[in-house]
Amino acid sequence: MPEMARVLENRRESPWTHTLFFDREVKCAPGQFMMVWLPRLGEKPFTLSYPNAITVKRAGPFTEQLAALEPGDPIGLRGPLGRGYPLMRRPALIGGGVGIAELRLLALASEKPIFVLGGRTAEEILFHEEFRKLGPVHVATEDGSLGAQGLVTSLLPVQAPAYAVCGPERMMAACLDLLPPERTYLAIERYMKCAVGLCGQCTCSGWRVCVDGPVFPGTWVREMEDFGRRRRAKSGRWEPV
Ligand SMILES: Cc1cc2nc3c(=O)[nH]c(=O)nc-3n(C[C@H](O)[C@H](O)[C@H](O)COP(=O)(O)OP(=O)(O)OC[C@H]3O[C@@H](n4cnc5c(N)ncnc54)[C@H](O)[C@@H]3O)c2cc1C
Ligand code: FES
Repeated sequence: MPEMARVLENRRESPWTHTLFFDREVKCAPGQFMMVWLPRLGEKPFTLSYPNAITVKRAGPFTEQLAALEPGDPIGLRGPLGRGYPLMRRPALIGGGVGIAELRLLALASEKPIFVLGGRTAEEILFHEEFRKLGPVHVATEDGSLGAQGLVTSLLPVQAPAYAVCGPERMMAACLDLLPPERTYLAIERYMKCAVGLCGQCTCSGWRVCVDGPVFPGTWVREMEDFGRRRRAKSGRWEPV
């Protein structure tokens, strides 16, 4: 059952992205997620970007409703759930789109991080100024409005003892091809229902993303035939990633 909390602030980060602060701090490892409940819409997974906030990209009915919440509105929270990132020294944090926000708590917990960030436009490069205070930031945007013009993979490889990757699955698959899998961790997204390992909805080549992940070592991900290829839709049918 979700615990009820109230929205403290709805902060617009970009035309498509909002950070929702709530009146409850969650003790979590970076990369763990919450099942967020809204009346009549049910529950969906979101990674904590602050101990008391999630950062949401508008993608469909649930995220549109989240983006429209106002201070004082109720919100249900279940978690923290899943396995997050291990702590790393001098990691390269590689983020794409809203995946950048999902790396924020890891950045704050890491010693001397460096950042490799990609998005369609400058507006998608979330927390850019905050990250610049923590370490070097390399940026690529598809329209060239910030940093180099191109995809985030054009900035790779960078030298680092460890790598954390979070973003669209095709972007993560392309990054994994360029990184040492034994020193890389990736956060996989799948449609979730129970989020406690029972229903099998979130499977990725037999791994349950909700309890075995969402963060997996690159050596495991490299062996997952489903990664970058197929996932179960809400109906349970397979669809291409
Ligand atoms: C562990 C985990 C953590 C997540 N953290 C965040 C986060 O911090 N911020 C954020 O904005 N989003 C996050 N997501 C994705 C978020 O849950 C979906 O964007 C949301 O469920 C979309 O719901 P909707 O009704 O708005 O859109 P829908 O209409 O349900 O979906 C819109 C589009 O997103 C795709 N989609 C929906 N759910 C998923 C999913 N689970 N995996 C891959 N694609 C999906 C659909 O195929 C469709 O193309 C996370 C997902 C997982 C599994
Ligand atoms: S969502 Fe049910 S097993 Fe993962």
